[in-house]
Amino acid sequence: MVRKVRVGMVGGGAGAFIGEIHRKALSLDGELELVAGAFHRDPERSCAFGASLGLASSRQYRDWQEMLSKERERPTDERVDLISIVTPNDVHAPIAIAALEAGFHVMSEKPAARTLDEALEIEEAVRQTGLIYAVAQTYLGYPMVRQARALVADGAIGPIRKIIVEYVQGWLSQTVETDGQKQAAWRTDPVVAGPGGAIGDIGVHAASLAEYIAGSPMTELCASLTAFGSGRVLDDDASLLFRMENGAQGVLTASQICAGEENGLSIRIYGEEGGLSWRQEEPNTLWHAPLDGPAQRWRAGADRGYLSPAVRSQMRTPAGHPEGYIEAFANLYRDVAAAVRDLGEGEAAYPGIDMGLSTLAFVDAILRNTRDDEKWTRVKDRGAL
Ligand SMILES: NC(=O)c1ccc[n+]([C@@H]2O[C@H](COP(=O)([O-])OP(=O)(O)OC[C@H]3O[C@@H](n4cnc5c(N)ncnc54)[C@H](O)[C@@H]3O)[C@@H](O)[C@H]2O)c1
Repeated sequence: MVRKVRVGMVGGGAGAFIGEIHRKALSLDGELELVAGAFHRDPERSCAFGASLGLASSRQYRDWQEMLSKERERPTDERVDLISIVTPNDVHAPIAIAALEAGFHVMSEKPAARTLDEALEIEEAVRQTGLIYAVAQTYLGYPMVRQARALVADGAIGPIRKIIVEYVQGWLSQTVETDGQKQAAWRTDPVVAGPGGAIGDIGVHAASLAEYIAGSPMTELCASLTAFGSGRVLDDDASLLFRMENGAQGVLTASQICAGEENGLSIRIYGEEGGLSWRQEEPNTLWHAPLDGPAQRWRAGADRGYLSPAVRSQMRTPAGHPEGYIEAFANLYRDVAAAVRDLGEGEAAYPGIDMGLSTLAFVDAILRNTRDDEKWTRVKDRGAL
């Protein structure tokens, strides 16, 4: 039986969104267990929430600083191995850096930090400590996304020419942040979210998905940002063109004002010899359309012998019994748990600080690119033609 990796969580208290998903995901396969936490900014609520989860009273911490210092004093076979950061963006970097410096591995929610500079500081701490740092780019934990990456790497569609990737949501179509919707409140506040709105919140998912499947980084981009919500200072809608190191051209949309949409993340990748397409809302199917043949529908499932072994080993049910969002997080946790147990030997299967940096470089480039409007060319007035 494998040793369980012990986790201490920061954030994810009562009413929080992603902390609950992380707790379910990390316990799904019995490889990790939550043993400690500081769940709220408010110390009393933090301890009360820890108690509600059944944590030992000595490990219901008042704040994350207390958790790091008290856990450090525990014997090595007892103290937490991994700090899971599920707070809003403003404290990702300080907690990650302090945790690494205190000797703990880190799993952080995305974006890795508010800004590229903060992410570079995390990179320095990862380099100095040699510890594991993973960033929860959730969609990279989906089996069919990993299969798409494997197909591209195997040359199934030939050299990539074109990528069309979008993440469209509708939940910020109205200014719900003014009606007490707390997830919207911090996401539209630059002090907490950072300088990117939709681009930092979901654009980073679209960008990381494209780079991960293509196996190539973005090199240049050209963007248009809009804040449709009245009074908003951060973008809630973004359209952009990008170029990749492998020569591919791409189009990316990230928007939270596409009324009626839920979590419409999708990607189409076209090479010289065929195309692949995947949609997060139907994540167990991957389409491969070769240039000269009928399209193939690849299906997720632990019993699908045609999938690559690494992909199959990340599934828990036979085809047709769908796995989804929680399992994608669980796959990232399994990758991290394996790395913690073997002390980082072998190639990291989880998205690490490089992906964290790459997504913040993407946000930074968009903000630099949109400082002026010179790239816009006026279409001639119809009357003057
Ligand atoms: N990977 C994904 O698919 C995904 C999806 C949603 C959110 N996220 C990310 O997860 C993070 C949290 O988002 P959310 O929607 O769950 O936010 P949320 O507002 O629902 O929850 C945040 C929680 O963190 C707590 N918190 C804030 N500061 C704290 C501190 N200093 N110490 C302890 N606890 C603190 C809050 O009390 C709250 O319980 C964000 O960075 C977001 O970008 C990622």
